[in-house]
Amino acid sequence: MRRILKDYPDISLKPENLDDKIDFAQIFGRKAPVHIEVGTGKGTFLVNQAKAQPKVNFLGIEWARKYHRFAVDRIGRWKLTNVRIIRTDAAAFVTEFLPDDSVDCFHIYFPDPWPKKRHHKRRFVSPANTKEILRCLKTGGCIKIATDYADYFEQIQKVLDERSDRFEEIEFLPTAGADEDEWVGTNFERKYLKEKRQIYTIAVKKIR
Ligand SMILES: C[S@@+](CC[C@H](N)C(=O)[O-])C[C@H]1O[C@@H](n2cnc3c(N)ncnc32)[C@H](O)[C@@H]1O
Repeated sequence: MRRILKDYPDISLKPENLDDKIDFAQIFGRKAPVHIEVGTGKGTFLVNQAKAQPKVNFLGIEWARKYHRFAVDRIGRWKLTNVRIIRTDAAAFVTEFLPDDSVDCFHIYFPDPWPKKRHHKRRFVSPANTKEILRCLKTGGCIKIATDYADYFEQIQKVLDERSDRFEEIEFLPTAGADEDEWVGTNFERKYLKEKRQIYTIAVKKIR
């Protein structure tokens, strides 16, 4: 039987209500480290991670309406108070609404690979988006990325390497909400682990 998905206005931020850089302390009702997930899918990472790290504020960005609705309903049912989600394009949102030096970690797990060469420019991890992420990260803040797609992983390594003046590679530690033998514990990772696909991970820290 299909479940009726509920909206939770305290969890779901509306892009139309934003007109300037967001104030994290105001949207979460407290000051705490901020982690952003780009492309939340059904919200599995957000739910598990928010439960494992209650002292962190998590903001998820998801473009697809059906996944966004599913994730909002799920987070609402878990009564998690340290998660917000917004349905919008992550690249535009980061550029327009995230303040400088405000984010502790970006989580980018299994971003759409856009396999056709002519579509590579749609990939989220690009020089332009990395420049914006650098602007928003606090010094010492990090980016964690996982993908099953070797060609995209090569691009990701190249893009990050080009900014080695600002980033230092660090060990990719499994996320707090992941199960044993998982890196991140998202739906896509679980699916790909079952298929025994290779998973590539990288983590970098902003050093200046
Ligand atoms: C392959 S899925 C991975 C979902 C989840 N991270 C996981 O690992 O299970 C990629 C997700 O990113 C979302 N997405 C793709 N491009 C996006 C964008 N520009 N802004 C926000 N979300 C995006 C898609 O709708 C989809 O839910």
